[in-house]
Amino acid sequence: MSKEKYLIGNWKMNHTQKETKQFLEDVASLNLVENAKEKDVVLAVAPSYLSLQVAKKNAHGIIIASQDAHHKDHGAYTSSVSIPMLQEIKIDWSIIGHSERRGYEGETSEICNQKIVALLANKFHIVYCVGETEKEYEAGKTKNIIKKQVTVGLSNVAKEDVKNIIIAYEPVWSIGTGKNASKEIAEDICSFIRGIVEKLYDKETADNLAILYGGSVKPENIHDYLLQENVDGALVGGASLKADSFKSLLDNI
Ligand code: PGA
Repeated sequence: MSKEKYLIGNWKMNHTQKETKQFLEDVASLNLVENAKEKDVVLAVAPSYLSLQVAKKNAHGIIIASQDAHHKDHGAYTSSVSIPMLQEIKIDWSIIGHSERRGYEGETSEICNQKIVALLANKFHIVYCVGETEKEYEAGKTKNIIKKQVTVGLSNVAKEDVKNIIIAYEPVWSIGTGKNASKEIAEDICSFIRGIVEKLYDKETADNLAILYGGSVKPENIHDYLLQENVDGALVGGASLKADSFKSLLDNI
């Protein structure tokens, strides 16, 4: 089992450059990075593309991740951002396959896989999101969906590269809804994901993989998730936007 825990904020389409800088200054004055180190927690936030550079300059030890990346280096892909563009501003972490991209942008696990392969070739760390919709959950299809998303997402990924991947289980019905999945569901699916990775690779690779839960994680419930054997951290949207709330999330790990 990986030793470190992860607290990753996904800011989505929130925070201007000015607000990003303010957040990071607030976080620095609250000594969050030092506290995180003591607790063996890795801290990261994923601002909008426009705020990445200012975030990087004011990071004070917090990892700055992009929310996506295109798998091609350049070309006619309006609104997309390439890996070389991110590398130029020293970004080497990226979220991939967030359900809002799968849902609104029609991103499939096959597309996610192309991105994962390209990012790994460029030595990025990846937070790969998987999760079922409410309809799939109610139809009892969660494990089928997760198995496909994980298997397709990791195809053509060499065993030695899995150490640069974190998988985040985020049931779509729990994101931004306040309807967080129970800790039992989170543990069941995170352990299921570890089992899939063990079958695809081996036990050591699976044991070393960090698996996060995401979906309406708040300072009040983060502790319960992190106590689960197979939950190594949290991917947090709404509750990661304010420095004091981010601090409370960390305090409660
Ligand atoms: P939420 O979002 O914490 O606001 O539910 C989580 C996510 O989308 O990563």
